[in-house]
Amino acid sequence: MLKSKKMKSNKLIKLPGLVDVHVHLREPGATQKENFETGTRAAVAGGYTQILDMPNNVPPTVTPWSLDDKIKLTKGRIWCDLGFNFGATGNSTQYFTKIAKRVFGLKVYMNQTTGPLLIEKLKERELIFKSWQSPLPIMVHAQGVTVEVAIKLAQKYRKSIHVCHVTTDQMKSIEKAKKEGLKITSEVCPHHLFLNKEDVKRLGPLGIMKPPLLSKRDSCQLWENLDKIDMIATDHAPHTLTEKYDQVSPKFGVPGLETSLPLMLQAVACGRLTIERLIEMTTTNPRRIFKLPAQPKTFILIDFSKTYKISNKKLFTKCDWTPFAGLEGRGEIKKVVIRGKTVFQDGKFVGKPTGKVIYPN
Ligand code: NCD
Ligand code: ZN
Ligand code: ZN
Ligand code: ZN
Repeated sequence: MLKSKKMKSNKLIKLPGLVDVHVHLREPGATQKENFETGTRAAVAGGYTQILDMPNNVPPTVTPWSLDDKIKLTKGRIWCDLGFNFGATGNSTQYFTKIAKRVFGLKVYMNQTTGPLLIEKLKERELIFKSWQSPLPIMVHAQGVTVEVAIKLAQKYRKSIHVCHVTTDQMKSIEKAKKEGLKITSEVCPHHLFLNKEDVKRLGPLGIMKPPLLSKRDSCQLWENLDKIDMIATDHAPHTLTEKYDQVSPKFGVPGLETSLPLMLQAVACGRLTIERLIEMTTTNPRRIFKLPAQPKTFILIDFSKTYKISNKKLFTKCDWTPFAGLEGRGEIKKVVIRGKTVFQDGKFVGKPTGKVIYPN
């Protein structure tokens, strides 16, 4: 594991704005959980200046016009830059060439998930992998060994794939595929690093998501494999407390945009990774892999000396809770600057939303 250079703890540090390729902003269709305004506020309050929205809305983002609708809805309402991932279905393959210049990843849900996008038939999976012509990655939601099915399809049709919310049991298959020459990348979620199965006793339904929390041992191993993982992604998947505590069908997913940086900075302070490696995993790598546009004059200013208990208070996400409440976070965000404009300062938003909808380079 990489050892951290000793960070001076009484210093303001300047970092590039963070990038998250995996967030669910829930608009349209489920704005009781989140919307473009609240979701991008949560992003900025967490140090993120560029994020990619997932397609599992109601209705799902699987046609050019559903993409148009999303873009229209963002007008004057987004606090950070926002791009979109497209949803894969057998039927949506007909639009792949048409939307290729307007979206980043193609999202394929190969196991149980929130929303109507589950693709289980091999024929349909084949058609999807075959039809995607963009050099950008196919983003797979594949639990456990299903990742091997995705790898085989990517090898067969020579596509690059990105493994979403990677788990310990998938590391070997990914390494093997990489050695065989496949363009394969992966992301890890803070909840799989900082929480584990034992926390489910305490968290109850607030601790359920896909893939589920790992055993303590597997979570430790994920840390040990951190240098093989390309990026951190929050999989920010807000649900209301009512939906989470539903007796019949509690929803899977947890919010994460506001807690990822403080948790990771605390890990830096503990020597679990270097600040350089953190920047690589939260900005450089996601931007390079998904061909996101550079953000000139965009940065965040952090007081690295400040530690605090993460709490459900003062969150900007509309769902208004976090599974990380009680954990130690580090680094108070003093300022977020996007294209030379201060948009967030000392816990408050400044001026008007200046975020832009972004397209691949
Ligand atoms: C996500 C959601 O709620 O949209 N839930 C989750 O548990 N991760 C869907 C997903 O990312 O698979
Ligand atoms: Zn997923
Ligand atoms: Zn997700
Ligand atoms: Zn520690």
